[in-house]
Amino acid sequence: MRVLITGAGGQLGAALVATAPPACEVRGLDRAALDITDPEAVRRAVAAFRPDWILNAAAYTAVDRAEEDREAAFAINADAVRLLAENAAAEGARLLHVSTDFVFDGRQSKPYRPLDPPHPLGVYGMSKRAGEETALELLGDEALIVRTAWVYAATGRNFMLTMLRLMAEPERPFVGVVADQIGTPSSAPGLAAALWGLVQRQASGIHHWTEAGVASWYDFAVAIREEALALGVLQHAAPVKPLTSADYPTPAPRAPLTVLDKSATWAVLGQAAPHWREALRTVLAEVAADRRDSRHTHTPTTREP
Ligand SMILES: NC(=O)c1ccc[n+]([C@@H]2O[C@H](COP(=O)([O-])OP(=O)(O)OC[C@H]3O[C@@H](n4cnc5c(N)ncnc54)[C@H](OP(=O)(O)O)[C@@H]3O)[C@@H](O)[C@H]2O)c1
Repeated sequence: MRVLITGAGGQLGAALVATAPPACEVRGLDRAALDITDPEAVRRAVAAFRPDWILNAAAYTAVDRAEEDREAAFAINADAVRLLAENAAAEGARLLHVSTDFVFDGRQSKPYRPLDPPHPLGVYGMSKRAGEETALELLGDEALIVRTAWVYAATGRNFMLTMLRLMAEPERPFVGVVADQIGTPSSAPGLAAALWGLVQRQASGIHHWTEAGVASWYDFAVAIREEALALGVLQHAAPVKPLTSADYPTPAPRAPLTVLDKSATWAVLGQAAPHWREALRTVLAEVAADRRDSRHTHTPTTREP
C-alpha cells in the first residue's frame, strides 16, 4: 500500500511516519515539501507518487488565532481538503482527514457519537467541519474522517510541553489551569497507531478516537506534574491551581464537555484504547529519554537550557 502523508512535520504527521506498518510504502511531506493550499504542488505530489491513501495530518491548528485569521484557517482546513479530495478521486486514492472535537458545542451531557449533529462554536471548529463536509461530499465512502482531541507528543507545540515549561520556572508560585472544560487527551503515537489500524481495515465514514477515560485540563495538568516528577523529567514543579473558564477568557469559545464516544471505532479496531494516563506515562518516558540523550550528547561547554 502506498501512503502519502501531508503535514509530516506536525505532531501527528511525524508520529504517522514513525509508526508506519512495514507493508506500507510511505511518503511523508512536511509543509516545506508540500503546501496543501497550492493546487499545482498537490496535483504533482499525488500524480508522482500515485498513493492508495492520502493521510491529511496538515492543518491550521491555532484555535485562538483562527478567530482573527479566518481566511487562512478556511484555506488550510477546508479549501485544501477539497484539493486533496479532488486529487485523490483523480488517482483513485482514499483520503483520511483528521478532524476535531471542536466541531461540537459541548452542550450535550453525554459523549458525542460520530453522527451527532455538529455545531462548532468558533472559526477553527467551523473550518474543520467544512473540511469534513467537503471530503465526504467529494469522496463518499472513499473518505475516512477521524475526529480526535487534545493531541500531544514528546515534541511539537502542545499542552503537556507547555505545562512542563511553566512548572519548571523557579519563581512560579503555581500554574493556573481551567477545571471546567472536560474532554480526553490523545497521545500522538496512540492516535497514529489507531489511524493505521483504520486504514489497514479500509474503514470509511466518520470515526472518533481519543484514549480512554475523561479529564478536565486541570486533571490533565495534575497528572503531567505527578508523572513528570516520578519519571525525573522535572526535579521541581510548581503546583497546579484550578481555574474557571471565566478566570481564563480566550478569543475562541471553548465547549464545556466534548468527550467523544469511541465505541464504534474501538469495535472496528478490535480493542479499546488504553487509559489516557497510561499513554501520558509512555510519552513522558520518551521526554525523559530524549532529555537524558541530549545531556549525553552535549559538549562540556554547553549548558542545559
Ligand atoms: N493538536 C490538537 O490538540 C488537536 C486536537 C484535535 C484535532 N487535531 C487535528 O489533528 C490533526 C493533526 O494536528 P497536530 O496536533 O499534529 O497539529 P500540528 O502539530 O500543528 O501539525 C500541523 C502541521 O500542519 C502543517 N501545515 C499547516 N499549514 C500547512 C499547509 N498549508 N500545507 C502543509 N502543511 C501545513 C503545520 O506546519 P507549520 O507548523 O509549519 O505551520 C504543522 O506541521 C489536525 O487535523 C488537527 O486539526 C489536533
